[in-house]
Amino acid sequence: MSARILSGTDLANKILTSLKPMVKKLDPKLVIIQIGNDPASDSYIRKKLQSCDDIGMRREHLHFDASVTFDELMKTIRTLNEDDDVTGYILQLPLPQMLQENEPLLFREIDPYKDIDGFTAYNLGKMFLSSDFEHLPPATPAGIISLLEQNGIEIEGKCAVVVGASNIVGKPLGTMLVNRNATLIQCHKFTHDLRSYTLQGDIVISAAGKANLITADMIKPGAVVIDVGMNRVGDTLVGDVDFENVKDVASAITPVPGGVGPMTVASLLQNCIRAKERQLERKS
Ligand code: GUN
Repeated sequence: MSARILSGTDLANKILTSLKPMVKKLDPKLVIIQIGNDPASDSYIRKKLQSCDDIGMRREHLHFDASVTFDELMKTIRTLNEDDDVTGYILQLPLPQMLQENEPLLFREIDPYKDIDGFTAYNLGKMFLSSDFEHLPPATPAGIISLLEQNGIEIEGKCAVVVGASNIVGKPLGTMLVNRNATLIQCHKFTHDLRSYTLQGDIVISAAGKANLITADMIKPGAVVIDVGMNRVGDTLVGDVDFENVKDVASAITPVPGGVGPMTVASLLQNCIRAKERQLERKS
């Protein structure tokens, strides 16, 4: 039996279309800060900007050379915080090597009400407390939860195996699943015998960034498999999952591309509208 393909492209398009009236009403503005020329970031940013254009959301791309100083970036962040016309902004990761040790200081400076990536301690802390407090959740985990929920895949009571423990995907996703009453197994690069864990998963989500990490023998028949990986192999983009073989074991699976990627973008734009709504509430 071949798995149902969970199309992130179709659902993201539906979500983006549903945002159009709110964009028209609230007129939010999204800003992307990019530093350097990481090829994957170039591609993600193009898609984010294109989606803004598609739904009529104002957007700006601040592109700095990799040699930009920490002080210049701090100044930019403070300017964006103070500019009432800017609804939300993101600092695209990864930062160039030179700036990486200062990453926490840069994120600490971001106004949590404009943090549409949901990466600041304030928004992560709210997300940690309960799903009721998820106001600006991190975009990729939020997109994955939507993809599961909108496809009628139950989370409560299920065993969810998350492979990867990054601050922007694995860790917040694990928390969001637990907040929806899943039993969580969180694996990472120090996990021994990964297969013994993935085989227990009713839902297996791989965000490890390693091509072909998840093979068919690691998946329980009928499990749902979500692939967050975006790995370049030669000229092609592949996920973490051996799609061709895993689709014959799983009941549902996301493709790469066209799975989680578009959902991240839709969730980001959704957060921008939420941020604008909250800013207006605070003013009234
Ligand atoms: N790099 C890879 N994914 C993301 C994301 O969702 N947000 C930011 N800011 N950087 C990323």
